[in-house]
Amino acid sequence: ATTGLVDRFGRVATDLRVSLTDRCNLRCTYCMPAEGLPALPRDATMTRAEIARLVGVATRDLGVRQVRFTGGEPLLRRDLVDIVRDVAALEHRPEISLTTNAVGLDTRAHALRDAGLDRVNVSLDTLDPDTFATLARRPFLERTLAGIAAAAEVFDVVKINAVLVRGVNLDHAADLLAWCLERGFELRFIEQMPLDADHSWDRTAMVTAAEVRGLLGQRFTLAPDVEPRDGAPAERFVVSTPAGGRLGRVGIIASVTEPFCGDCRRTRLTAEGGVRDCLFAHTETDLLGPLRAGATDADLADRWRAAMWAKGPGHGMDDPTFSQPERTMSAIGG
Ligand code: GTP
Ligand code: 5AD
Ligand code: SF4
Repeated sequence: ATTGLVDRFGRVATDLRVSLTDRCNLRCTYCMPAEGLPALPRDATMTRAEIARLVGVATRDLGVRQVRFTGGEPLLRRDLVDIVRDVAALEHRPEISLTTNAVGLDTRAHALRDAGLDRVNVSLDTLDPDTFATLARRPFLERTLAGIAAAAEVFDVVKINAVLVRGVNLDHAADLLAWCLERGFELRFIEQMPLDADHSWDRTAMVTAAEVRGLLGQRFTLAPDVEPRDGAPAERFVVSTPAGGRLGRVGIIASVTEPFCGDCRRTRLTAEGGVRDCLFAHTETDLLGPLRAGATDADLADRWRAAMWAKGPGHGMDDPTFSQPERTMSAIGG
């Protein structure tokens, strides 16, 4: 009998994150080194057809219902619209979303929507051009904002992701939230994780979820959202004015101080076609090699199941033996 992607702890992965490229046009300090990283050779990354094949196995044989394309920066794939169209045409069509920095999204948002993309999450850490240039090491705030404006025109749901860095953009958090609320975007503040290239992550310097709640509480009233969390990384809050006027929602992704690994529903494919059972995995299970060597869909599904069965209980950041994975965030895709 066939089963889905079950692990030894009883979790079932129904949410697939596919990294389409390890390349990026920004150099965010918490994700990549200033000089960038050696890019994968083109023929080492999955082609459009290989992506459709593996996502097809995931949705038809393995019970995956949601697919998110990430990077690096997925917009750097010139065939992104085609990839979305192929996945939307699958017999068991998943919900399709994209995590992007939005640079260049302005010219492609309509085509992506028409191809079947359901929603987008955009990374935006600050509205200040100089701070943006410091954090992303590229002066692309205007281009990002143009991408977000286009996304807002065509997608019903736009979420914004922000990583707060002490001494850089922490003081901008409440202004960023006000800006998102005015536009109907759901902002999520993400605790910085040890996935940077410089290995300069420092738990004591990291901005915690508790600190963010306190900071936002000075200007807004936050109440826990009653909607079920459903394994989502973000804990959501309803935001109101101190007088009680409802403004929208905000999310906090507390991977470090309030881990949600026990309810994880995610499986990942790297741009090289390897299964990662966790953001913090130290091993990957190659699917692209076997695919290119002629493996059947059933073989690929079996390998994928075996990879997920081996998933550990959590990221283990609090264990004394914890070590950061070799890949940086830019090569995993979040
Ligand atoms: P939706 O809730 O479906 O909109 O997406 P998402 O929040 O899961 O995806 P997104 O790509 O926007 O990720 C936001 C942040 O959550 C990123 O920093 C991710 O790295 C983080 N995240 C996503 N999945 C996991 C996970 O399995 N573990 C941890 N620790 N963080 C995750
Ligand atoms: N810790 C937490 N989030 C990170 N992101 C990138 N690097 C890190 C990190 N070290 C975020 C990006 C993007 C999402 C996919 O992951 O800001 O929004
Ligand atoms: Fe690029 Fe995203 Fe990493 Fe920033 S966080 S360098 S936008 S992949």
